[in-house]
Amino acid sequence: MEKQRAGRNRTMTLSDTEKEELRKDLSFLSEKSAVDGAVDKTFNQDLFEVLEYLPKHFVDLLIIDPPYNLSKNFAGNKFKKTDDVAYIEYVRSWLPKVMELLKPNGSVYICCDWKCTSAIYQVLSECAVVVNRITWQREKGRGAKTNWKNAMEDIWFGVADENDYYFDVEAVKQKRRVVAPYKEDGKPKDWEETDEGKFRLTYPSNFWDDISIPYWSMPENTDHPTQKPEKLIAKLILASCPVDGIVFDPFLGSGTTSVVAKKLGRHYCGVEISEEYALLAAKRLRKAETDTNIQGYNDGVFWERNTLNQQKKKK
Ligand SMILES: C[S@@+](CC[C@H](N)C(=O)[O-])C[C@H]1O[C@@H](n2cnc3c(N)ncnc32)[C@H](O)[C@@H]1O
Repeated sequence: MEKQRAGRNRTMTLSDTEKEELRKDLSFLSEKSAVDGAVDKTFNQDLFEVLEYLPKHFVDLLIIDPPYNLSKNFAGNKFKKTDDVAYIEYVRSWLPKVMELLKPNGSVYICCDWKCTSAIYQVLSECAVVVNRITWQREKGRGAKTNWKNAMEDIWFGVADENDYYFDVEAVKQKRRVVAPYKEDGKPKDWEETDEGKFRLTYPSNFWDDISIPYWSMPENTDHPTQKPEKLIAKLILASCPVDGIVFDPFLGSGTTSVVAKKLGRHYCGVEISEEYALLAAKRLRKAETDTNIQGYNDGVFWERNTLNQQKKKK
C-alpha cells in the first residue's frame, strides 16, 4: 500500500507507469564491454557479475558505500550482520576486483561506520595507499538507552599511487563565518566583509560537520534506507575527479554518486542489484538533466550549516 506522507514531504517516489518508462534507462552486461559501453550507465545487476565484464583501469574515482556490517533490508535483499572475520572476507571478495577498474593515478573513497571501519581499513590498505580518513558527523542517529548514539561515519581515502593523484583543494574550500574578525591596518585579514556577513574561505579538513543526511523535506530524499547526501558526494568528486573524468560506484543505491557526477560535469557508471533503487537512480538522473542544484553547494563554494539565509541573499 502507498505510504501516507505529509503535504510538504518532498521524498521522491515511483509510480508503476514511471517504473515502466524508466526501465528503458537501465543497462545489463552479459559480455565484456569496452569503455563506451560502460560509461554513463546504470547496471541493474549483481556487482560480482558486472565485474567480470567491465574494462580494467577506466575510472578516475571510486566512491564505495557498501552494506555495513549490520542487518539491513535493501528492498528485499537482506544483508545479515556477521562477525568481523566474515565481514573482512566479504570486503575481500569484491574490493580488490573493484580496484582493478581504477586508473593508475586514480583515487578511492569508502564509507563505513565505527563497527566496520577496521575491516575496511585493513582490506583497503592491502590494495591501495591509504592517505586519510574523513570523519563525517551526520548528526542524526537512533538514540540508545544503554549506549552513545551513533552519529558519525568514516570515509577512508586511498590512492593507487601516492606520488601521482588528482586533488583539487581549491574546488572544496569551505565558506565559514568569521568568529573573531581580525584586521590588519584597518583591513580584514584573510576574510571578506560581504552583504551576507563576514566570511572566510578555509582549507577543508578531514572532519566534516556541515552535512546532514537527506530528510523528508529535501528534494533529493528517497525511501532508500541509507542514502548519502549529495553535498557529501560532491566534495569527494570535486576534490578527486577531473572534469569529464569517470566515477564508478559499485553499490549505487538510489543513485547519489551518478547524479552528483552528472550535475558536476563528470561521467558515471553505477551498479545496483535492486530494481527499485536502480529505477530511483534513473529518475534522479533524468531530473539532473535540468536541475543541477546541490543543496549546500552554491556559487562554487561549500557553505557551513545553517547559512541558508545568507546563501539565498547571495543569489
Ligand atoms: C549502503 S547502500 C548505498 C546507498 C547509496 N550510496 C545511496 O546514496 O543511495 C548499498 C547498496 O548496495 C546494494 N547492493 C548490495 N549488494 C549488492 C551487489 N552484490 N551488487 C549490487 N548492488 C548491491 C544494496 O541494494 C544497496 O542499495
